[in-house]
Amino acid sequence: MFHPLQVREIERLTDDAVAVTFTVPPELRATFRHTPGQHIALRRTVDGREIRRTYSICTPATDDPVLRVGIRLVEDGTFSTYALKELAVGDTVDVMAPAGRFTLVPRPGRFVGIVGGSGITPVLSIAGTLLARQSDAHFCLIRSDRTTASAMFLEEVADLKDRYPERFQLVHVLSREERQTGLPSGRLDQERLRTLLPALLRTDSVDGWFLCGPYGLVQGAEQALRALGVPRTRIHEEIFHLDNGAAAPAPATTVPAHSTVTATLDGRSGTWPVHDGESLLEAVLRNRPDAPYACKGGVCGTCRAFLVSGEIRMDRNFALESEEVDAGYVLACQSHPATEQVELDFDR
Ligand code: FES
Repeated sequence: MFHPLQVREIERLTDDAVAVTFTVPPELRATFRHTPGQHIALRRTVDGREIRRTYSICTPATDDPVLRVGIRLVEDGTFSTYALKELAVGDTVDVMAPAGRFTLVPRPGRFVGIVGGSGITPVLSIAGTLLARQSDAHFCLIRSDRTTASAMFLEEVADLKDRYPERFQLVHVLSREERQTGLPSGRLDQERLRTLLPALLRTDSVDGWFLCGPYGLVQGAEQALRALGVPRTRIHEEIFHLDNGAAAPAPATTVPAHSTVTATLDGRSGTWPVHDGESLLEAVLRNRPDAPYACKGGVCGTCRAFLVSGEIRMDRNFALESEEVDAGYVLACQSHPATEQVELDFDR
């Protein structure tokens, strides 16, 4: 469900990125309370077409949290262009309550973030909350940007360094800038990480790894960690956008001629036909426009539903952990029926 929120502040972070802060009225404070690492979906209608985008919350989840997101201009990105060029303080935007499972509830231990570009956004909230709330927790941030000028939230990260010099460690890798200081430059790829990580820390002492950024960086970091013997259960991932070469959709299976989907949403159920080639989400949306979604690209996880019965084929999944898939969860926006009847529960 979307809520109209007023823009309180717009702060320019780089040439192509802003931080947008919303005013949350007292009656919606509980709704918009976030777990560090979560995102919110924003909605806008252009020429009668509804556009939704998810943006991560960058602020710590303190007792009185501020709702602020980082938005970077994406090539041909309708929403990001609007946010950077048109959006003004005082405007109202439709905002969905925080969601997402790329989260860390503060606990003692050692944690590492490996992020690229705007992937810093949720990890800034994760690190900021952890260090403020848990005096015996440590966080190491390895971030990669093209240049210093293109790096989002430089001040906020520097502030963490000042505040927690003993517990916060920063490695900033710049891919397109020669550094005079002897600090790392070049791409943060798999090979690089396999050398860098053991030199920085004891990988087996890390309680959680948070990887966030473009597909290539997240995949490379995961492979490096697996090669270093890090168990899959300690690795958390969030992909921000799919670069070329992202995994192709799963091969098509035979689709039954007349499939139906039964969906439960907010306690109400219905059964509807699934048209040829459309996803289960599209079939549900035709009848229940309130079905949850944001990216429709298998990335954000907003359309997660429990598969009660039947079988489905998922094109791609960059949002659900393997344990969630094993437990029976699917992404409705990527699912197609593989049996004549499929039943989803969006409430579980
Ligand atoms: S709507 Fe984003 S994963 Fe389905």
